Amino acid sequence: MKITIFHWIIFLDILQSSTIARPSLLQHCISENQSVKCQQKMPDMIDHSVDTFQLTGIKLKTFDLGRVVYIFPNVQNVSITDGNIVNLIPPKKPNSIKVLELRRLLLTNISRDFIRHFHNIEVLDLRENHLEQFPVDFFWGNVKELRLSNNSWNCSDDLSWIFNMNKRVVVDINDLKCFGLPYPGKPLISIAQYIKELEDTCIPNCECFLSKVVQDIMTDDLVPIITMNCSYRGLRELPSSLPNNTRTLHLEGNSIASLEPLNNNPVYESLWDLYLDTNDVSSIDDLEGSFWLKHFREFSLKGNKLTKIPAYALDNALLKNPNMPKAVRLYLGGNPWRCDCIFIPVFQELVLQKYATQIKDIRDVKCSYVQGDENSLMPIIDLSRSSVCRLPPEYSLQEGLDLLNGILASLIVFILGKLAYDYYHFKKTGRLPWIVTKMP
Ligand SMILES: *[C@@H]1O[C@H](CO)[C@@H](O)[C@H](O)[C@H]1NC(C)=O
Ligand SMILES: *[C@@H]1O[C@H](CO)[C@@H](O)[C@H](O)[C@H]1NC(C)=O
Ligand SMILES: *[C@@H]1O[C@H](CO)[C@@H](O)[C@H](O)[C@H]1NC(C)=O
Ligand SMILES: *[C@@H]1O[C@H](CO)[C@@H](O)[C@H](O)[C@H]1NC(C)=O
Ligand SMILES: *[C@@H]1O[C@H](CO)[C@@H](O)[C@H](O)[C@H]1NC(C)=O
Ligand SMILES: *[C@@H]1O[C@H](CO)[C@@H](O)[C@H](O)[C@H]1NC(C)=O
Ligand SMILES: *[C@@H]1O[C@H](CO)[C@@H](O)[C@H](O)[C@H]1NC(C)=O
Repeated sequence: MKITIFHWIIFLDILQSSTIARPSLLQHCISENQSVKCQQKMPDMIDHSVDTFQLTGIKLKTFDLGRVVYIFPNVQNVSITDGNIVNLIPPKKPNSIKVLELRRLLLTNISRDFIRHFHNIEVLDLRENHLEQFPVDFFWGNVKELRLSNNSWNCSDDLSWIFNMNKRVVVDINDLKCFGLPYPGKPLISIAQYIKELEDTCIPNCECFLSKVVQDIMTDDLVPIITMNCSYRGLRELPSSLPNNTRTLHLEGNSIASLEPLNNNPVYESLWDLYLDTNDVSSIDDLEGSFWLKHFREFSLKGNKLTKIPAYALDNALLKNPNMPKAVRLYLGGNPWRCDCIFIPVFQELVLQKYATQIKDIRDVKCSYVQGDENSLMPIIDLSRSSVCRLPPEYSLQEGLDLLNGILASLIVFILGKLAYDYYHFKKTGRLPWIVTKMP
């Protein structure tokens, strides 16, 4: 049987058998050999012989590790688990702690100098806390093993700290998961690599971000979803390259006129959403038969210079688009549409009526401004065929035809009259009409 000496803080030393719980510890501590296990409270007597200390269920928000070192000056293994500790104050005095386990607490941060307070520390276990970030310039000392999984890593923050980590030290590095949006439960190291790679491949002057990461159902591989923002960058052309896996491209407020690359350049085949609001696009004829029209999800051409579009080609492509009907969104408002009898009836029937749920700004699809025209700036969906096909040009042609008919009718009356007169004159005088005498 082993004998342990305990130093009471208030009273004198008391000798006790280690297998029997000591009076002061009765409620919450068990001691065996050189190891003490406590629940909810710290013991309050100093013991130089203890090398292993475990504390569970402590309810303090701030806990001072200095107290552990004070009570057990030679302690080497310290384990504090399942408590409410948010802030941990490191010991100020030199100590012998080699193994420090701080699990299932509520720790939210670890300071970069934490290790400086433990000259002998080799193992630090911080699993199952609420850590959100790790200091980039963490002081590692002689740490040989660090565990960090099951924390609340915030992957919207700078993740460059992960690249400073030695995989042989941070043994569970591959188990670190992002917490919360935008990458819930995704492996932190992969997210950090995607973000780093994106910084290297983003087009200069544009902004790229990893909007989310999805898991391929078939292969289980992670697939990054990239958004690139080149809005208001003074661009005159569509970019000729995109970072891999770019799915959304913002190009609002540039001076882009031609959509040809959307048809020719294969980098656009992986694009889903394209925002070209307020550019100089006057025609989408280049997109006839293109992969893009048959596969896009969102396409915004608001505020461009479109006067007409190939309605049959658009209809054809939308019929083949696998994202129809739910995922397709098309924006065509704010363009100077030409409201004539040739374009409008087809546009109304094959595009506006047929795809009314997909065209999100359908009431902004209006006739261009034409002074004195009753259809000027009218929503095209509301126009009746008769109002479009009774436009001034047709009107004057009709009037012209009426005039011509009148002239022809009066000519016929004149000729018949002349014929009757000549016949009557010939019968009476026997003389042929003047015109007949001149004929050969
Ligand atoms: C305590 O020490 C005894 C003898 O040295 C040993 O048999 C026993 O397993 C030890 N108990 C613990 C929990 O280490
Ligand atoms: C201290 O902890 C380490 C690692 O958990 C373990 O290998 C070692 O046996 C422990 N030492 C004592 C004295 O409990
Ligand atoms: C966490 O941060 C707070 C305030 O910034 C600080 O007081 C506390 O010591 C830190 N905790 C750790 C474990 O570094
Ligand atoms: C830690 O997280 C992993 C996956 O994120 C989970 O499977 C495991 O149960 C968690 N461990 C604990 C002790 O919560
Ligand atoms: C994560 O970090 C970002 C950027 O620092 C911050 O805006 C956001 O609030 C953090 N999220 C959480 C859950 O703390
Ligand atoms: C894109 O960048 C522009 C200009 O920096 C900014 O105004 C706009 O909000 C950004 N759009 C998105 C979707 O991030
Ligand atoms: C982008 O994808 C192409 C083709 O799949 C590949 O060859 C290239 O290495 C990728 N680039 C990056 C930076 O991953």
